[in-house]
Amino acid sequence: MTSISGLSSADWRARLSAEAAAAPASGIAQVMRHGFGRSGIIPLWVGEGDQPTPAFLCEAAAAALARGETFYMPQAGLTELRGALGAYHDRLYGGLFGAPFRAERFFATGSGMQAIQIAIRLTAGAGDEVIVPTPAWPNFAAAVGVAGAVARQVPLHFASTGWHMDLDDIERSIGPRTRALFLNSPSNPTGWTASEAELGAILDLCRRHGLWIIADEVYSRFTYDMALRSTPSLHSVVAADDRVLFVNTFSKNWAMTGWRIGWIEAPEALGPAVENLIQYATSGVAVFMQRAAALALNQGEVALAALMERARAGRDIVTGALARLPGIDFAPPGAFYLFFRVDGVSDSTAFASALIREADVGLAPGSAFGLGGEGFFRLCFARDPNDLRAACGGFADWMAARSPA
Ligand SMILES: Cc1ncc(COP(=O)(O)O)c(C=O)c1O
Repeated sequence: MTSISGLSSADWRARLSAEAAAAPASGIAQVMRHGFGRSGIIPLWVGEGDQPTPAFLCEAAAAALARGETFYMPQAGLTELRGALGAYHDRLYGGLFGAPFRAERFFATGSGMQAIQIAIRLTAGAGDEVIVPTPAWPNFAAAVGVAGAVARQVPLHFASTGWHMDLDDIERSIGPRTRALFLNSPSNPTGWTASEAELGAILDLCRRHGLWIIADEVYSRFTYDMALRSTPSLHSVVAADDRVLFVNTFSKNWAMTGWRIGWIEAPEALGPAVENLIQYATSGVAVFMQRAAALALNQGEVALAALMERARAGRDIVTGALARLPGIDFAPPGAFYLFFRVDGVSDSTAFASALIREADVGLAPGSAFGLGGEGFFRLCFARDPNDLRAACGGFADWMAARSPA
């Protein structure tokens, strides 16, 4: 395409930094573009539920604005929010290193995505490598590339009993420039969830090789076991001198995806380094958002339980419906995604696009999630039960019409 400047898109790209020019387009967005604006489409491709943010959180943000809280604030985040994060973690994990969580470990960021960017910047520079177990949320590997580092993808192993991370595979992928491992448990998209013993073994491996762990436990509250308040966390096995950074977000637990606020948790001594990176990125998070976020931590458990309940019901609907279909295979889901394989599919993007066009069902193609994802599809089930039933019915009919009688 030639623009008003007389230069083509390719000409403009050639003027960019190598990292910006090489940043891949999201394979999920590619399919979404196909379906946007179509009336009747059931969009299960996104990584978010369909519920708006609870009203009491929106009111807290509005009240902060009305009070005139519109000025710059400390780059690490409000004392109130950092304290609330400490107390929230105490309630979930019963303290850290034998004492209450210290507020100074927590830093407000402009989304979980920005927490990931900062964690990468803290650990890997140009030419360094970061191990990313796949299939994985594509933004990890892309953000590593934008930072000038290299994402080394290591596929998990699929079985209908569960996905499996082979630590020998991880160890074999470690080279002289490897600096960090992304550990996303529960995983988007596979639902793989590490047990505490597995977390301990992964931590041990990283200790032996001097690697950082960038721990993404964004979906840890989506447990599907009523007895548990969180899936197993590295918080339970980590020691004070371990190289572990936690990245997290308000997006999923409190239906705040559009707000763009998250946090990074780091050893307290790294405070100045984390704050510098925040300063030179966004210089901090809007105060009104931080007030609402603190309230979500302090008083958001009932709202979170309702979202969990919706996800549980959604999970039962989609697993029940898809388990009955021939040629469909999946492991027990986690987070709020079902990642299922369709026999014989070798181009999941083309398949997902046809499904949108012909059946008005929107799924994310597995190829978007890196090595090991082709042939699979991600479905978000944190949504209206009627929509989920209609989508599963539409998918089943469409599949039946495609297969030879
Ligand atoms: C595994 C994982 N980590 C981090 C994020 C970032 O969330 P956000 O940028 O909305 O805070 C997401 C969002 O989909 C995710 O799936």
